[in-house]
Amino acid sequence: MSSIESVLTENRSFPPPVAFARDARVKSLIDYEALYERAAREPEAFWGEVACDLHWSTPWKQILEGAFPETADSEGVRWFVGGTLNASLSCVDRHAHSWRKNKAAIIFEGEPGDTTVITYGQLHREVCKAANALTSLGIKAGDFVAIYMPMVPEAAIAMLACARIGAPHTIVFGGFSADALADRIADCSAKAVITADGGWRRGQVVPLKHNVDKALEGVTSVEHVIVLQRCSNEVAWTKRDVWWHEVVETASAKHEAQAFDSEHPLFSLYTSGTTGKPKGILHTTGGYLTNAAYTTKMVFDLRDDDVFWCTADIGWVTGHSYVVYGPLANGATVLMYEGAPNAPRSDEFGGSGDGQDRFWDIIERWGVTVFYTAPTAIRAFMKWGDQYPAKHDLSSLRLLGSVGEPINPEAWMWYRKQIGGDRCPIVDTWWQTETGAIMISPLPGAIPTKPGSATRPLPGIDVDVVTREGVPVGPNQGGFLVIKRPWPSMLRTIYGDHARYVSTYFGEIPGMYFAGDGARKDADGYFWIMGRVDDVINVAGHRLSTMEVESALVSHPKVAEAAVVGRPDELKGQAIVAFVTPRAGMVADDALARELRAHVATQIGALARPEEIRFAEALPKTRSGKIMRRLLREVASGSTARGDTTTLEDQGVLERLAQSFAHDD
Ligand code: WT7
Repeated sequence: MSSIESVLTENRSFPPPVAFARDARVKSLIDYEALYERAAREPEAFWGEVACDLHWSTPWKQILEGAFPETADSEGVRWFVGGTLNASLSCVDRHAHSWRKNKAAIIFEGEPGDTTVITYGQLHREVCKAANALTSLGIKAGDFVAIYMPMVPEAAIAMLACARIGAPHTIVFGGFSADALADRIADCSAKAVITADGGWRRGQVVPLKHNVDKALEGVTSVEHVIVLQRCSNEVAWTKRDVWWHEVVETASAKHEAQAFDSEHPLFSLYTSGTTGKPKGILHTTGGYLTNAAYTTKMVFDLRDDDVFWCTADIGWVTGHSYVVYGPLANGATVLMYEGAPNAPRSDEFGGSGDGQDRFWDIIERWGVTVFYTAPTAIRAFMKWGDQYPAKHDLSSLRLLGSVGEPINPEAWMWYRKQIGGDRCPIVDTWWQTETGAIMISPLPGAIPTKPGSATRPLPGIDVDVVTREGVPVGPNQGGFLVIKRPWPSMLRTIYGDHARYVSTYFGEIPGMYFAGDGARKDADGYFWIMGRVDDVINVAGHRLSTMEVESALVSHPKVAEAAVVGRPDELKGQAIVAFVTPRAGMVADDALARELRAHVATQIGALARPEEIRFAEALPKTRSGKIMRRLLREVASGSTARGDTTTLEDQGVLERLAQSFAHDD
């Protein structure tokens, strides 16, 4: 039996390491269960207590208003009703005015190897200056501000400055194309864009400002573009452009923060759904921040002497909640790294080697204690080889986290041994852009872990696995993952399309929030997430809709029809395979395949570029004319050896669930 099989058949369980449990906030399964029970019995009292960890300017009058299900004419769920707060006071001011004034808030390392450490005192001054600069440009509470930046401290400063003046931000990942950026800016009518001349990625400059210029060709709402100088990259200039250093560095460092209603929008973040264009997931202030802060504290058992490194880009929700809002609300020190995991430092900063040990080098040099990354990255590290982590002293680490997709047991075991030295608990955290914060995860120190399972729901979170009719399924039976009761950091709506919000999340399974994932619960009540049951695919932890890629393909003049499916991929989890029927008279050759792949990259971004294009004279269809995706999925995965990303058995269950869910198969 191979080691991987033995792990699976034994359903192996790892108790929390004793040394960790001794000092943990929650020290045993019994304590976890007591906490969970209490929260389930009195959810409002529980969340009220949790929310007290934030700085409120006016106390709330009521903890929760509204209930599930959300309907087209319900008022909507509202948390901490009547309370007012300013997110930046909780994340910055209260620490800057305490003993943490000279504590590092952000440790930054640029890809070339340049470094900056920003204390809470300094962060406070920078956020105040940026807030004053935005105000001086005419940005007011309620105006949307788009942020399209590299992973640099100014990105966090920009977010907090927007929050400070009540201007919701919408961050667009720097890997998205100008077209994708334009769609997002237009959808929320952003009044300003904050960007940079460029950012470093694998030794190259990502031309962010150039993409903004292209995006704004067809957008009218934007009045100002604020440009950070990061790479000395030459940029075109128009009269709507201002340099960050000219407006921010000259602004006053004094800023009186106004408190906003608990339900004031904090940000929207676009993510892919089954149909249509990406949707703007709207999060509001009090509830979101409560959960972001609480989960960071509990799941990572965060301490004042931790150096917390979440490797996600701020363009994703993970970066919002666990690079910025969650850790800073806790007064933690976060590490922020700009570049690729396999980029060496430049010669100027003493770089050597091929860079495949860059993460381990960072952990050693900065003494990172908590490390949170994605399975796709872990699988790449495994492939690069054990010699890279082995070169470094990783003994500062005390806790490891995983997020974004199911982690295969083999990667879990490798992570535990090669990175965690068999000493660090692993928290496999399940959540979504929509949930705002972690929902299912072990509490390290309390919950024994099983490789591949996100284990148990956090206190206050009521999740289950049910049939389409909403009936709970038995142990180890596949079903749909749902959340049965409102939680503070849940999305409030899809910006500009409340009807879509109601139908997507509450129109599928009666009375409950439908997450879009298939799952099973084992006899110990552990959740095993199997993957999406809708047409959302997860490529290297990035969420994409097959229909989005199809629309990009059919917008090409040589394409008549296209169908896109995901196929299991050993490194990326899923890879995109596109079946394309060219228009009559077009030659289906390698040149066209290259052209189409490039076209998708321009339309959406390199992350959506199909791995493989297969030309077909016609696509298989049902008698009613619907494309038979299931068949295409089988064809697409049949051609390659399966990776071990999920067990074959899980894949079969998932396929059946997807079929019962699909509206168009
Ligand atoms: C989808 C949400 C918020 C995390 C970053 C992704 C998948 C996420 C796990 C996990 C299995 C996971 C689900 C979910 N997912 N974490 N620990 N185990 N699957 O956020 O882009 O909104 O994607 O990612 O399929 O629905 P997102």
